[in-house]
Amino acid sequence: MKNIIVIKYGGSLMDDKNAEKAVLRNVLRFSKKYSVIVVHGGGKDITKALNKANIETKFVNGLRYTDGKAIKIVEKVLESIQIRIAKKLKNAIALKKAFLGVKINSLGYVGRFCCAKVQMINSVIEEGKIAVISPIGKTKKEQILNFNADEVASGIATIYKAKKLIFFTDVKGVLDSNKKTISNIKISDVDNLIKESVITGGMIPKVRGCAEAVKNGVKEVDIFDVRLKGTKII
Ligand SMILES: Nc1ncnc2c1ncn2[C@@H]1O[C@H](COP(=O)(O)OP(=O)(O)OP(=O)(O)O)[C@@H](O)[C@H]1O
Ligand SMILES: [Mg+2]
Repeated sequence: MKNIIVIKYGGSLMDDKNAEKAVLRNVLRFSKKYSVIVVHGGGKDITKALNKANIETKFVNGLRYTDGKAIKIVEKVLESIQIRIAKKLKNAIALKKAFLGVKINSLGYVGRFCCAKVQMINSVIEEGKIAVISPIGKTKKEQILNFNADEVASGIATIYKAKKLIFFTDVKGVLDSNKKTISNIKISDVDNLIKESVITGGMIPKVRGCAEAVKNGVKEVDIFDVRLKGTKII
């Protein structure tokens, strides 16, 4: 089998058709050399759908509070994104609930990633296909939960000891307080950058996920824009 890479496709890019094309082109290019697992987000579309349903959006440390009504909408939005991506990639399979997690009670129906359904994922990549995973998972007791897609990508990359973990997002990597890209971030600097509020919002789970992956043996971890420019976490 080829080496495995995990690519997170950020929901922040999904309202830009050209950005989507560029991300999927990158995925296809990587799939020539690697077995690719794609994890997608959907933050912007989810917020739009919740607004329509008059549900207020609230984030805690970059994680979306998700009540009983919201989780149904989140699941629907993510499912349609997942199907769209798998269709556009052609040689890809959309996997349903490909991982498990534990409920974080203070956030409603939100989970912390625990473990991937490795056999399910393997059956796709062993066939030479791209696995497309959405950040909807469940507890061992079959409770459906919303997850931050960055945590899922990082968790899966760790389990597979992936060769690379790439986060495609709507910024040119992690920016410093002068809005300049920080080209390399050491994992020991991550907590300080969050404490100093250089890193906020959705970038928090992303850099934390990166740091976890690096600590656990993922060789190359990058936060990139669609041109593959950005920040390397070392
Ligand atoms: N220091 C920073 N550098 C760059 N972006 C930052 C920083 N701090 C906070 N951010 C925010 O993080 C955002 C990226 O995270 P966000 O969760 O919004 O996108 P995503 O993960 O690509 O999408 P999704 O969560 O839908 O998958 C940026 O658009 C920016 O607003
Ligand atoms: Mg995000």
